[in-house]
Amino acid sequence: MNRVFSGIQPTGNLHLGNYLGAIRQWVAMQADFECIYCIVDLHAITLQHDPKALAGATRDMAAAILAAGVDPAKTILFHQSAVTAHAELAWTLMSVARTGWLDRMIQFKEKRGKDSEGPSVGLYTYPVLQAADILAYRATHVPVGEDQKQHLELARDIAVKFNAAYGEVLTPPLPVIGREAARIMSLRDGTAKMSKSDPSAASRIDLTDDAATIAQKIKRAKTDAPPLPDTAAGFDGRPEARNLVGIYAALAETSVDAVLADWGGKGFGAFKPALADLTVTRLEPIVDAYVRLRADPGHLDTVLRDGAARAGAIALPLLREVYAAVGFLR
Ligand code: TYM
Repeated sequence: MNRVFSGIQPTGNLHLGNYLGAIRQWVAMQADFECIYCIVDLHAITLQHDPKALAGATRDMAAAILAAGVDPAKTILFHQSAVTAHAELAWTLMSVARTGWLDRMIQFKEKRGKDSEGPSVGLYTYPVLQAADILAYRATHVPVGEDQKQHLELARDIAVKFNAAYGEVLTPPLPVIGREAARIMSLRDGTAKMSKSDPSAASRIDLTDDAATIAQKIKRAKTDAPPLPDTAAGFDGRPEARNLVGIYAALAETSVDAVLADWGGKGFGAFKPALADLTVTRLEPIVDAYVRLRADPGHLDTVLRDGAARAGAIALPLLREVYAAVGFLR
């Protein structure tokens, strides 16, 4: 049986990178798979956070995911802290994962400098919790952006090692990484990932930006002087041009080569307004739905609570199997 699981942190707004790299796949996969999507608030506290803002941010993220097209009638959407099996399974898996494996995690190295007191233990063990998220549901497929590939490999390694030690209980998952939009870059720097944690709002397009803001951010996006190349080979040394064309291709649901067939030889003066129009057209329905959903927090809480009950009903039996396999008294 195929089952999809994925997660997103409730920090900051949903941005174009999250949407094109992950959430759009989440929506599409609902047609063919049983899907479980999680707002990972346990992960969100591993860096300094504002406790007064977290619950609201979790609701905001639920509204954005629903606005993008996740259908709670068939798909499970919930927040991680509402299903205790995640933390319990993570603890068990921490005795399976090796410190050497965690020492290699690129995201930890990138994020550890961000806290004045030094990194929390939670930030270090973060990928083990992520593995627990996935393994708790025996998920077979995990749609993510390129930056999560290493964490998915770790989840596989943990599942394989657990099974070798305790019997075949866990299912090693496969990442599902889109081709054109796996890595959307900052609008201010084509070598840095578009990210919620970038202090400059001009670096990303948030799904809550209005049309004028989107047009303005794209107009001011960093570019170079030459016209667009005729083929993707011409992007060498031009990360910003590559990124903007990649965004266009992802939004138009076509390939980079097809975009360059139309736009090769033309300048950014013409391309940027076309990209802005396309972005606004694609995001407008999502922004409208988001505003409507956000106005009804009671509905959002009901969706999340219902999702947590359905998720818990899957994760708890798996946790019991894991506990039996490692030998806990029942
Ligand atoms: P997070 O919250 O950073 O991002 C959510 C999803 O968006 C993708 N993404 C991007 N894709 C393309 N270009 C970008 N610039 C970009 N920025 C973000 C991410 O790859 C991700 O798919 N650790 C995870 C959350 C998590 C999780 C899980 C994911 C926790 N448990 C279990 C999958 C399965 C994270 O921080 O994602």
